[in-house]
Amino acid sequence: MFRRFEKKPAKPAAPSLVPGGKAPEAAKPAAKPAAKTAPAVGLDIPKPAPKPKPAQSAASQMDPKEEKRMARLLDIRMDLHKRLLETLNLAALERASDEDLRREVSAIAREGLREMGIVLNASDQEEVIQGLMDEVVGLGPIQPLLDDPTVNDILINGSQQIFVERAGKLELTPVRFKDERHLMRIIDKIVSAVGRRVDESSPYVDARLADGSRFNAMVPPCAVDGSLVSIRKFTKEKLSIDQLIEFGAFNEAMATYLQAAVSTRLNIIVSGGTGSGKTTTLNALSGFIDDAERIVTIEDTAELQLQQVHVGRMESRPANVEGKGEVSQRDLLRNALRMRPDRIIVGETRGDEVIDMLQAMNTGHDGSMTTIHANSARDAIARLENMIAMTGVELPLKASRAQIASAVNLIVQISRLQDGSRRMISITEITGMEGDIIQMQEIFKFKRTGIDENGKILGEFVSGGLRSAYTERFKQWGFELPSDIYAGGDL
Ligand SMILES: Nc1ncnc2c1ncn2[C@@H]1O[C@H](COP(=O)(O)OP(=O)(O)OP(=O)(O)O)[C@@H](O)[C@H]1O
Ligand SMILES: [Mg+2]
Repeated sequence: MFRRFEKKPAKPAAPSLVPGGKAPEAAKPAAKPAAKTAPAVGLDIPKPAPKPKPAQSAASQMDPKEEKRMARLLDIRMDLHKRLLETLNLAALERASDEDLRREVSAIAREGLREMGIVLNASDQEEVIQGLMDEVVGLGPIQPLLDDPTVNDILINGSQQIFVERAGKLELTPVRFKDERHLMRIIDKIVSAVGRRVDESSPYVDARLADGSRFNAMVPPCAVDGSLVSIRKFTKEKLSIDQLIEFGAFNEAMATYLQAAVSTRLNIIVSGGTGSGKTTTLNALSGFIDDAERIVTIEDTAELQLQQVHVGRMESRPANVEGKGEVSQRDLLRNALRMRPDRIIVGETRGDEVIDMLQAMNTGHDGSMTTIHANSARDAIARLENMIAMTGVELPLKASRAQIASAVNLIVQISRLQDGSRRMISITEITGMEGDIIQMQEIFKFKRTGIDENGKILGEFVSGGLRSAYTERFKQWGFELPSDIYAGGDL
């Protein structure tokens, strides 16, 4: 378990990472005196969190017989569904309990099978009935994937191709929709539940499923070979600092450093590619924020789950079908400034809110955090510059760089490597400007050493021995970090 650095009063005694005799008053679980040595951080590939049973649909390589059987069951299920819609009282459906509904659905299914002259063995029949239930109350064929806790993402490329991501790896599933119309019906079901519409005239939509999962759909004609759907599953249990260390996302020295950085209110940008773990990292970092602080979060889709008591959550809203009522992240950010926040957390900075975000960071809302879509710390800066330029604010490059350099203290770069593992590949401090150039220093990085026979990437987290430029600040706040956290070999 990661033992948090125990903050010392401003005039510190000898630096030490070992918790002293006294436990902090709040008796944080992290400060268990029993823990003797921290577990070594394995460099093998992150295992997914302990998972309950995987779904039956895991096989990506299916034998043709099985494929045929599933296609037949799907046909039967769709026929039965048609009958069901004719017979079932849809208004009563809303009020029926799951059990009643299941009984009703089973009865109609059995009768339908008899009338169609179809004989199924018991397990196939059960599968058809479950599938029907999923059609009626759930999201059809993808419902089992939504229920499967080992699945992180569901990616649908037209009705016949559905991929999932498990433990960082994409796999093709045997799950199919009957046809494009079937897929469209499920998409409609999702978007109409949130009062939106998707069709040829507005062919894409963002929505949130009832369980909090993030949903995006793009339908034909813009989607060329059938509707494209992407779902990022909502996980109730966000990965903690401890789990991330255990999975090899970063090591204890880095965690100690990040604890100091967050606690001393550095402005932090988490940068990474799509699905690299930006939101997860932001969420975990927020765990270092003091409970006494007032935090306001701003997101396009509310995903963050902060553990603090005092959190105001806001979510932007797209325009309605008449093109009215949009509330952008920028609007929310401006409003947030009037809400007396100690810290502002923007889920992802991607547009003109960048100006207000940097201004907030520069003017008293230090300790703010956000994520950005970029592949390196330099790239993150370039993205910020671009975003500023795109807002139409006439700012010379040097001025926008100066703005960025004084607003942002730290860039945490994460990446999903080819083997599916997600790692913090660099922690970089912004130290100022020299001429037109923003100065940075890398404090930690992940150094690859090779690849093993299973394709797993080997490597270690290293630090070049450079002391943090914020050492003095850390010290003033009671975080006199032991210098050996920076000693770890060459960068
Ligand atoms: N270090 C890690 N080890 C294992 N799984 C991880 C790790 N970090 C994140 N994940 C998982 O990866 C998935 C994607 O993470 P997350 O949503 O944080 O990515 P993101 O970069 O914010 O994605 P997007 O660009 O789509 O917003 C989640 O299901 C999360 O639980
Ligand atoms: Mg995200």
